[in-house]
Amino acid sequence: MPFAIVAESTGGPEVLRRKDVVVANPGRGEALIRHTAIGVNFIDVYYRTGLYPWPVDRDLVMGSEAAGVVEAVGDAPEDATGDTHGEGMHGLAVGDRVAYTIRNGAYATHRVVEARHLVPIPDGVSDVAAAGGFLKGLTVSYLVNDSFCVEAGHAVLFHAAAGGCGLIAGQWLASKGATAIGTAGTDEKCAIASRLGYQHTINYRRDDFVRRVKEITADEGVDVVYDSVGKDTYPGSLQCLKRFGALINFGQSSGPALDFKLSDLAAGSFSVTRPILFHYTENRGWLLSAGRELFDMIADGRLEIQVNNVLPFEDVAEAHRIIEGRKTIGSTVLTID
Ligand SMILES: NC(=O)c1ccc[n+]([C@@H]2O[C@H](COP(=O)([O-])OP(=O)(O)OC[C@H]3O[C@@H](n4cnc5c(N)ncnc54)[C@H](OP(=O)(O)O)[C@@H]3O)[C@@H](O)[C@H]2O)c1
Repeated sequence: MPFAIVAESTGGPEVLRRKDVVVANPGRGEALIRHTAIGVNFIDVYYRTGLYPWPVDRDLVMGSEAAGVVEAVGDAPEDATGDTHGEGMHGLAVGDRVAYTIRNGAYATHRVVEARHLVPIPDGVSDVAAAGGFLKGLTVSYLVNDSFCVEAGHAVLFHAAAGGCGLIAGQWLASKGATAIGTAGTDEKCAIASRLGYQHTINYRRDDFVRRVKEITADEGVDVVYDSVGKDTYPGSLQCLKRFGALINFGQSSGPALDFKLSDLAAGSFSVTRPILFHYTENRGWLLSAGRELFDMIADGRLEIQVNNVLPFEDVAEAHRIIEGRKTIGSTVLTID
């Protein structure tokens, strides 16, 4: 019987409950996916706790990325050229392995998804790597290419360097020839971050990261800070920037940075942005090109997706406990046999 993991209200991991569901047939422009692997992301925690407002009155199905197999395809969308079955469905066929990232709805064994969100998974990329690396890899792609275009020689500070996004970012930044400085909460996490691209690591629960960044950069500061930690790292992140540097705030795992003021940027003519992946993925052209590049990098070994926490789908509450408790390194994936 197909089932989903739902939350009827905000709260702790215990609000996540199994619920049997009826799977709909795919409509125009849609495909039915049988999930094999579902990525767990910090955004799931934001929705569960209510930090992010719910888009529904009750029964929220969280989960924003998954991999699986196409079980059925609907008719082409009405605006597709011609209206033949299959046209406008982006070449999808039953049996294809696909990945997607959409805000919420992925904690389910089966799901009907608009075909425009689906990207084929090539041979050489496992479903677990796809589910553990799609949302996070696309995030790193836009962070280092679009939010701020990192170039060889740039000095970069990336917080939570041993997290799901962090371990992908270290490798990507190194491949661009940047000097990547990563922060992490334990020496073990720092060691893994060092192995995966970071030239310098700082245990920011023990050491003052602002002082260490100044030492590493000979007082100059970095060109860009990628900050997804929020409350605990702001305003230290700004203090690490060189003049005209950029702060990219893309999350708040420790809570929102509440005391931000525009006038803070005057200290060094800094720029700041608060980007969201889903604004990029709405553009099918961007999604396909960034998705293909990401999967190519994984398939040919340029990018290692560290999935260190693989749990059965039913253990989603435990997955929330470990990611929220800062106990994870790399990505967390739920699997369905
Ligand atoms: N805006 C976007 O488009 C976008 C897309 C994807 C992800 N994100 C954000 O990127 C961040 C990373 O996401 P992820 O899924 O890869 O998670 P993650 O980095 O694997 O996990 C979050 C990490 O944040 C650190 N952290 C620092 N203070 C914390 C606290 N008080 N409580 C919990 N964790 C704390 C922990 O690492 P240490 O123990 O090493 O400090 C923890 O492992 C999240 O903030 C997420 O919301 C944003």
